[in-house]
Amino acid sequence: MHLLSASCVCALLITVLLRQVSGLQTVIGEYGETLEIPCNNGAMKAEDVLLAKWKYDKGEGPPGDLLVKTGNNAATISATDEYKNRISMAANFSLLLSSATLTDQHTFTCMVVAGADITEHPVNVVIYKKPESLEISETAKELEIGKLTELGTCVAKDANPAANITWLKNNVALVADGKGISIEASVQEDPVTGLSTTSSILKYSAEKEDTDAQFTCSTQPTVGTELVSSPTTFTITYSTENIVLQVTAQDPLVEGDNVTLKCVADGNPPPTSFNFHLKGEMVRVENADTYTITNVSRETTGEYKCSLVDNPTLEATEDVTVNYLDINLSPSGNIVKSAGDDMELNLQIDASGDYKVSWTKDNVKLEKQPKFAKLIYADAGRYECEVTMGLLSQKALFDLTVEGAPIIKQLSKMASKDANHKVLMCEVEGSPKPAVSWSINGTSLEESPFINGKIRHKITFRPAVNLTVSCMVSNEFGADSKSIHVASVNVEVEMDKQDDNDQTKLVVGVVVGLIVATLVIGLAYWVYMKKSKQGSWKTGEKENGSSEEEKKLEEKVEENSQKAEV
Ligand SMILES: *[C@@H]1O[C@H](CO)[C@@H](O)[C@H](O)[C@H]1NC(C)=O
Ligand SMILES: *[C@@H]1O[C@H](CO)[C@@H](O)[C@H](O)[C@H]1NC(C)=O
Ligand SMILES: *[C@@H]1O[C@H](CO)[C@@H](O)[C@H](O)[C@H]1NC(C)=O
Ligand SMILES: *[C@@H]1O[C@H](CO)[C@@H](O)[C@H](O)[C@H]1NC(C)=O
Repeated sequence: MHLLSASCVCALLITVLLRQVSGLQTVIGEYGETLEIPCNNGAMKAEDVLLAKWKYDKGEGPPGDLLVKTGNNAATISATDEYKNRISMAANFSLLLSSATLTDQHTFTCMVVAGADITEHPVNVVIYKKPESLEISETAKELEIGKLTELGTCVAKDANPAANITWLKNNVALVADGKGISIEASVQEDPVTGLSTTSSILKYSAEKEDTDAQFTCSTQPTVGTELVSSPTTFTITYSTENIVLQVTAQDPLVEGDNVTLKCVADGNPPPTSFNFHLKGEMVRVENADTYTITNVSRETTGEYKCSLVDNPTLEATEDVTVNYLDINLSPSGNIVKSAGDDMELNLQIDASGDYKVSWTKDNVKLEKQPKFAKLIYADAGRYECEVTMGLLSQKALFDLTVEGAPIIKQLSKMASKDANHKVLMCEVEGSPKPAVSWSINGTSLEESPFINGKIRHKITFRPAVNLTVSCMVSNEFGADSKSIHVASVNVEVEMDKQDDNDQTKLVVGVVVGLIVATLVIGLAYWVYMKKSKQGSWKTGEKENGSSEEEKKLEEKVEENSQKAEV
């Protein structure tokens, strides 16, 4: 209202001035400066002018004389009032008025006598002054959303005419709307200088977006450039509408970790105290918005809440889940078992979620958890199981050793490179690795790697005589030995038949039988022929002879069978 009236007064003033000025020349002077008031726009020829005189309209009474110039003489100051020391005349008859003030706003008249003509040239003088500066003062500490608040006062000091103040938000003019924006302007005139000081009060109802808004005030002086105040920003306050519970924890959260609960409220200023609801238990936190649970355990898992102390209906909820994965493998460590033993394997898993189990034996993946019904040497090795649940994993392992006394599985002859050598191979099973020795000295002793409790030993040698060769094995759990007959290198054929002694005996027996039968038939034939020739039978001789023959045959058979055993 005041502003409106002020601006109206101002506009009116200018209009009036302009109207007065129409037909009448107006000169605008700057406050405090020297003002030049031209005489007839300077269109005077000095040589024609007999007399030039300046006077001014005092408003009432006769005009006040200022100065007079005649002919070529210097101008004489006739004024006796306050103009006495502030006036002079230029060569072109302009009146120069120093230190102009508002009280100089009169009509000044230049009277000229040129030849027989006397002319008067009135000039209207207006003095303007732009305000010293524009400043926003008495600013609000903060603006509460939705509440009409006196944001500040903009003061334009000592101006003429009175400054018309505009409020701006982010360089956009604010217009009073009777609701969220109200502007009250007032003008005070200095009784001494006549200068006007305009004060404009902005009442403003803030919105959330006004948080960083820049408020300024400005004025456009009648002459010169626009004046703008330095910008002011405000803290926008509002009560909390939303609340969020933030859970800060490592991922995955496991036992022993810390969990920080943070209650974030969107109010400004933010609330300073909160209630944290820890699975039923309530903890009040002052001057902080966090609550830390240290060294969490699986029991920590649950529902957590936070709420405003002064508005418990505003609350936020989050679930906290502590992951855990415990495994227990039995047996574990170093396991020593005897071949043939049973072993039970037990893997216990206690986990907070779904998990996967994988097994390896000596770093080779197994399809499933191993089972040991009767341990064999091949079962020995390092067994590892890994249980994974998301990013968590646990490992357990055991080293299984299967022990047992060595057993010779086979002692056999091998093909030899040449007819002068024999090769024997002794195949042994047992663990730890059995020591293998032979009953003879040989060359090229070869030993296979010891794998899965098995080892093979080869010996190459040259038997000069028929031999019985033994392979002897032993470890800390026992010993074993086996023998084999080896013919001297000359007796190749029989050597190969060593293993089938009984069969050889049978074959030899059949052959001997056939020879005996042939001899008997031959003898019978011979007796028959002799009987048929002589008709007599020398029984004693012949019986003796035949029994001797039989003895010899029997010996031969025995010999043969002995040979066959070699
Ligand atoms: C009169 O003379 C002054 C210099 O003495 C000059 O600045 C001014 O412009 C002149 N005025 C006119 C109206 O010619
Ligand atoms: C963490 O809690 C467990 C029991 O839940 C306890 O044994 C352990 O000592 C605690 N550790 C620390 C560092 O407090
Ligand atoms: C093997 O040779 C060594 C000497 O080289 C000898 O002392 C030992 O009696 C031999 N063993 C057999 C079984 O011939
Ligand atoms: C070895 O045995 C064979 C028959 O098996 C025999 O002919 C040979 O004479 C025997 N050699 C020795 C050196 O005893």
